[in-house]
Amino acid sequence: MELKSEFIFIVCQAGAEPALKKEIAKSYPHLRFAFSRPGYVTFKNVDGSVPFDFILHSVFARAYGVSFGPLAEAELPRVLDMAETLRAQDPTRKIHLQAWERDLHIPGEEPLGFVPGALLGSVEAQLRKQAKSEALFEPAGHPQDGDAVIQLIALDPGKFGYGLFTYSTAHSPYPGGRPPLKLPNEAPSRAFLKLENSILWSGAPLRKGDLAVEIGSSPGGASYAMLQRGLNVIGIDPGAMDRVVLKHPNFKHIQRSVAHTPREDLPESIQWLILDMNVEPNVSLYAVDRLVSRMKDSLLGVLLTVKLNQWKFADEIPYFMSYVKAMGMIKVKATQLAYNRQEIMIYGLTRKGMTR
Ligand SMILES: C[S@@+](CC[C@H](N)C(=O)[O-])C[C@H]1O[C@@H](n2cnc3c(N)ncnc32)[C@H](O)[C@@H]1O
Repeated sequence: MELKSEFIFIVCQAGAEPALKKEIAKSYPHLRFAFSRPGYVTFKNVDGSVPFDFILHSVFARAYGVSFGPLAEAELPRVLDMAETLRAQDPTRKIHLQAWERDLHIPGEEPLGFVPGALLGSVEAQLRKQAKSEALFEPAGHPQDGDAVIQLIALDPGKFGYGLFTYSTAHSPYPGGRPPLKLPNEAPSRAFLKLENSILWSGAPLRKGDLAVEIGSSPGGASYAMLQRGLNVIGIDPGAMDRVVLKHPNFKHIQRSVAHTPREDLPESIQWLILDMNVEPNVSLYAVDRLVSRMKDSLLGVLLTVKLNQWKFADEIPYFMSYVKAMGMIKVKATQLAYNRQEIMIYGLTRKGMTR
């Protein structure tokens, strides 16, 4: 099998395809849109075949790689051919198989009874069984730098896409860029998953004993996640907090809008600022800016959910990021997380945070 292709695939959230296409057209004019399903888009590189270690910088891409096109169920053995070819090229290189299904619904909007993974069925298990050599694929787990990662993506019943990339930290280690997080029964909201996902993605060095201020904290999923990690949390929100958070000794609720929260009401030393207000980006970022100036001597970083209430706000992401830089963040990056809804996460670290 010849391992060469001019196509790439990109995984995004269902509904984010137009924003992704716009972003790619702007940053990568040599990539031309080829094919799209909700949550899955392919592009052709007009300059020729794509190296497996290419790096894509995109807010809306959760995972990406070189695409080898569609596969019908009967053609699934091609995945094994790909692995055998890689093995023949380099017998010592580790080969991973990641099989997953594209996003079928917006996070949190799955219909009742929806079973994730049903499109994929037992295909991954079958392929692993069929692999001639037991050691062809690594057991499921995180790839390391330089490993080959074969992708099998369930697109529609009986229809798949397949591809390949060389792993580096420019890729998510999780199949489809979705960490397998579980919502604890007592977590007050799905924002628990978003906060945990943001920590995994950013590597934010939150530590036990740190103080985090969350703007837009009700009912308390994110605060709950931070309390579980041993942080102290102050939540600012006119809305009510769930009892599980309120009764926690390390939580304090300021039940007011952020505009009515004087900076002086907050302690001198604050390590993290978390934002999750359901208002337009300019309003929420202004609120953060006002408080950050008070915290600048102690602040390590920010994790900011910026709502794209309208998709046209996606055009302003570079502006949002420069605004966050202007707040004193040295390292700033943004993405749409698997557990984000129509919103993105911006992560910023201060100089102090960089040295932790
Ligand atoms: C998506 S919810 C937050 C979810 C929360 N982070 C959690 O973990 O459960 C958005 C919140 O923003 C709050 N909010 C909206 N405007 C606000 C303002 N001006 N000041 C503080 N909170 C605000 C709302 O009351 C609402 O509870």
